[in-house]
Amino acid sequence: MSDDAAAPDVPPETAAALDAALAELPPGFRAVALTGAGISAASGIPTFRGPEGFWQVGSRVYEPQEMATAAMFRRDPESVWQWYLYRLGICRAAEPNAAHHALVDLDAALGRRFRLITQNSDGLHLRAGSPPERTDRVHGDLELVRCARPCTPEMWPVPEDVEPLARDEPLTAAHRRALTCPGCGGWLRPHVLWFDETYDEERFRFETALEAAAWTDVLVTVGTTGATALPTFAVRAAVESDALLIDVNPEGNDFGELAEGLDRGVAVRRPAEEGVPAIARRLAALA
Ligand code: APR
Repeated sequence: MSDDAAAPDVPPETAAALDAALAELPPGFRAVALTGAGISAASGIPTFRGPEGFWQVGSRVYEPQEMATAAMFRRDPESVWQWYLYRLGICRAAEPNAAHHALVDLDAALGRRFRLITQNSDGLHLRAGSPPERTDRVHGDLELVRCARPCTPEMWPVPEDVEPLARDEPLTAAHRRALTCPGCGGWLRPHVLWFDETYDEERFRFETALEAAAWTDVLVTVGTTGATALPTFAVRAAVESDALLIDVNPEGNDFGELAEGLDRGVAVRRPAEEGVPAIARRLAALA
């Protein structure tokens, strides 16, 4: 739980803009938060498009947009697994921060009037206590694997024998064995949505997430560049149905600029660990 009394507020000007916008929410309002890598930055997980997202294979440096692809996995599954097992180690060592906790508190206050959509596969929302049934993990989960072919739609937790790797540490024979599909003997793969793949409802709850965006009275986007399709569609759906848009990001970004240009929008140019508790506290008080 977040400690409300100790949580810092956003600067007075932003607080005033938030209070004015939130005061116009209808009674029994519905809320959706859509989070990206920035919400986990304070937990020590590098964002995708920041400098630590790059990865070297041999003499070439790859961007995440190249590593996180089915094409790269077909070409070089070991390097892709190396990258994911390095990320898995970072995510397992990380702890949820004040922003994750604040969204758990908000869920407790709003119940079924709240939904969380996250692009993060780091597991921190669920570890903080957000309920899985109201948390749409639209880009997958690093703790799950499935057949790369696939011979079955089944998913499994990352096998116990699969230890995370340090940067530049190669896969071992034990990794290779454990990352073999029990059904067909081919490679298992991480259960994440790659850049050259498309969303679906069954595995990534794409339609559920978009319906929530069209259903909500307030959409809070947090720590995302909005470079992928779902956040763009979700923001459009929310704005078209006249929802209030609040963007939380210490840097300028498309959603913040959009929010600033709307009658019903606020850009909170602060880090998530400060902005999200300030918003969640206000929404819970209005619930
Ligand atoms: N609080 C809030 N936002 C932050 C913070 C912070 N403390 N630190 C950084 N940010 C912002 C950055 O300014 C940037 O806008 O977080 C954003 C992170 O952007 P990306 O790295 O592009 O992450 P994201 O938008 O989640 O990426 C989307 O792309 O790589 C794929 O599937 C992957 O889910 C990922 C998706």
